[in-house]
Amino acid sequence: MIKPDGVQRGLVGKIIARFEEKGLKLEALKFLRPSECLLHQHYAEHQGKSFFEPLVKYIQSGPVVPMVWQGPDAVKIARTLIGSTNPSQSPPGTIRGDMAVQTQKNLIHGSDSVTSAEREIDLWFDNKELIGWDRDGDKWVLESA
Ligand code: GTP
Ligand code: MG
Repeated sequence: MIKPDGVQRGLVGKIIARFEEKGLKLEALKFLRPSECLLHQHYAEHQGKSFFEPLVKYIQSGPVVPMVWQGPDAVKIARTLIGSTNPSQSPPGTIRGDMAVQTQKNLIHGSDSVTSAEREIDLWFDNKELIGWDRDGDKWVLESA
């Protein structure tokens, strides 16, 4: 999910390009201002931490771009593309390493496991919004396609 700082800074296209160029396949995407209720569920693991309420308030402040990217090891690959939570410790070449400086404005959220991804996809998307499609270029990206 591209966070409000990514949207406000006009980085949506650049961030999406990183995932496309890597070879992950876009399955769903939308543009919305999330509710407090949705964000409380989304960030449930951080409930009680000092940054929880400011984080929810911040993400609620602007439109965000939730997306579903599919592919072998998609969660692991996406986390690598995104980089470390703190952009100052994130190497060049990563989204956060190249385009952000501080943790609160780290541009993008990525699911941290397949279980989290399944839970989060369910929170943000209806089943019918997930587009199953064949990508012609996959035979040049995937071993088995
Ligand atoms: P996400 O992909 O956004 O979940 O980031 P992450 O998995 O790298 O980090 P984590 O799940 O630990 O934290 C979720 C988000 O909370 C981070 O991306 C930050 O935006 C915010 N956050 C985490 N730790 C801190 C902190 O110590 N201070 C502040 N201000 N924000 C934090
Ligand atoms: Mg996280």
